[in-house]
Amino acid sequence: MVTKRYQDSYAQSLENPEDFWLDAAGKISWSVPPRRALDSSRAPLYSWFPDGVLNTSYNALDRHVEAGRGGQDALIYDSAMLGIQRRFSYAELTELVARFAGVLRGRGVGKGDRVVIYMPMIPEAAIAMLATARLGAVHSVVFGGFAPKELAARIRDAAPAVVVTASGGIEPSRRIEYLPAVEEALRLAGTPTLPVIVTARDGFASSASDHGWLDWETEMAAAEPAAPVDVKATDPLYILYTSGTTGTPKGVVRDNGGHAVALSWTLESIYDISPGDVMWTASDVGWVVGHSYIVYGPLLAGATTVLYEGKPVGTPDAGAFWRVIRDHKVNVLFTAPTALRAIRKADPDAKLLRDYDISSLRTLFAAGERLDTDTFHWASKSLNVPVVDHWWQTETGWAICANPRGLEELPIKAGSPSVPMPGFKLNIVDGLGEDVEPGTEGNIVLGLPLPPGTLTTLWGDDDRFISSYLQAFDGYYATGDSGYRDGDGYVFVMGRTDDIINVAGHRLSTGAMEQVIGQHPAVAECAVIGLADPLKGQRPSGYVVLKSGVEVAEDVLVKDLIALVRRDIGAVADFKHVAVVDALPKTRSGKILRKTMRQIADGEEYVVPSTIEDAGVIDQLIGTLRPATPRN
Ligand code: COA
Ligand code: AMP
Repeated sequence: MVTKRYQDSYAQSLENPEDFWLDAAGKISWSVPPRRALDSSRAPLYSWFPDGVLNTSYNALDRHVEAGRGGQDALIYDSAMLGIQRRFSYAELTELVARFAGVLRGRGVGKGDRVVIYMPMIPEAAIAMLATARLGAVHSVVFGGFAPKELAARIRDAAPAVVVTASGGIEPSRRIEYLPAVEEALRLAGTPTLPVIVTARDGFASSASDHGWLDWETEMAAAEPAAPVDVKATDPLYILYTSGTTGTPKGVVRDNGGHAVALSWTLESIYDISPGDVMWTASDVGWVVGHSYIVYGPLLAGATTVLYEGKPVGTPDAGAFWRVIRDHKVNVLFTAPTALRAIRKADPDAKLLRDYDISSLRTLFAAGERLDTDTFHWASKSLNVPVVDHWWQTETGWAICANPRGLEELPIKAGSPSVPMPGFKLNIVDGLGEDVEPGTEGNIVLGLPLPPGTLTTLWGDDDRFISSYLQAFDGYYATGDSGYRDGDGYVFVMGRTDDIINVAGHRLSTGAMEQVIGQHPAVAECAVIGLADPLKGQRPSGYVVLKSGVEVAEDVLVKDLIALVRRDIGAVADFKHVAVVDALPKTRSGKILRKTMRQIADGEEYVVPSTIEDAGVIDQLIGTLRPATPRN
């Protein structure tokens, strides 16, 4: 079923990676073109294009202006929250980015320094990212839905020279003041005097001057534009923190050269985007999808990117996505399945589509969680375009499995993100690392080296990188996902094998939530599990055992615990359910049987492990777990 162009590319990428990736590198403008692709001298840490020199911001902006396309739209800001649209041509965006790079330089930012960006979905977020890259500095964008404590953990780890933020973010139900959160985070991080640059937005209570911080516009007016700074291909471009199985987030490091090469390959070969096309990725710059396909990918390809501040529903209705496609003649839409489910729930027959001409749309891509078959069929039928699931992770930066529409239009199978992309040596193995037969579920692992554009390490912690990803299966990167391959080589990704859950396309750690709940003085122990949710894919559900002798009203405790998770992790955790139980099921070695709990709650078949400490606990729990999960 898998046919020639894809097969040839895939085979060449594994048999002759040097030629394959040096050829792909030809799409990038280098100050010093690479003569070698792979550097294995520090295996199992690999790097790509070791002798190449470039600037990512130059590749995303200036070179398109120099090629005569300065007047073309680079970025369209569409705020459903404010009812406004703003277009930035390549020439305008280059000028703004160069000027903001001048602002950062004026505040002491140079090559290798870090800049933390905590911003809502406004153009200044992309400008700040590209300006940081222009100086050869390293950005770390923190999603606006995270609480001060999470922001503080990232500031502590990345040790930035500057923080860039905005007055606040706009959610449908409320305005979120960012500045008090930033102040609190700086205090928690022990860096209260760090320079902070603030983009002012109307309608927020506190401003830069209230905190003694710098105003974006004032700084821009005084700054000189900065030219792109040459960096080595192997120098870091950004750190993006993501949930691990513990409360400490992992700082995924992306390089400059491998990233630019891989993303431009994907724009052409996966998304089938050419210069001048319009790509809209409905995500947030705080997530990897936003890094790769709101900011860097489309701009590296000379396309137009849409930066959308709004929701799929309620801003104002379930026709919002169709409106954006029509207004900006979007060719490719990339969104999360949860957004499609939200639209379908509000408008099951897609009646609102009739009000919009979406004939510009060629393909819909989905990722962030498994695209369930119902949603796949609904979207395919409603939109009448190919709907392409593709599977990837913050760590990989681009799709591990996809249907590479630009290379070859492979048949689409519902429920599968199709086939491995070039450079990803995908295997499915059992717990001992032995290959399993097609049709048998196992751990999805990727042979080393990973291709360009994937993580090079964890920030400042090679050991954690190796122990987190490379030690479980010798010679492989462990994705943490399980799945199987069918007889045609199509991959089906079924879920995580660890304590990471995916809530509305947002990756969260149940371990981190347990850590927060465990701090409550009444709680002896707790478990948080991800239960199936018809809209959000999964939702967290907590079970706590009280310390003996503690007298506390259950409803008060539940409210306190929900508030605690919201305070310490953020609203995005969507932690809204807790139950008090007598005991948690554990193995004799003390490991909580979270998987069994989840299976019981989700109504799946389950086997109680023979190593269980006290089987009676399961019987007691069944009543609590089942009613907690209304399914529809
Ligand atoms: N800043 C601050 N708070 C935020 C936020 C942000 N950037 N994003 C979400 N939140 C808050 C919400 O306001 C909400 O708070 P509440 O509990 O007070 O209501 C909470 O976090 C959960 O938000 P969300 O997950 O967005 O749920 P929702 O019920 O408001 O909306 C969907 C449901 C499906 C419409 C929404 O989740 C959605 O658009 N999902 C798509 C996400 C996506 O594109 N992910 C792609 C990642 S690749
Ligand atoms: P993140 O790092 O936030 O992008 O989350 C990555 C995780 O989301 C993966 O390890 C998967 O568990 C899940 N995921 C992302 N895309 C898909 C997909 N298309 N199919 C199944 N799971 C997915």
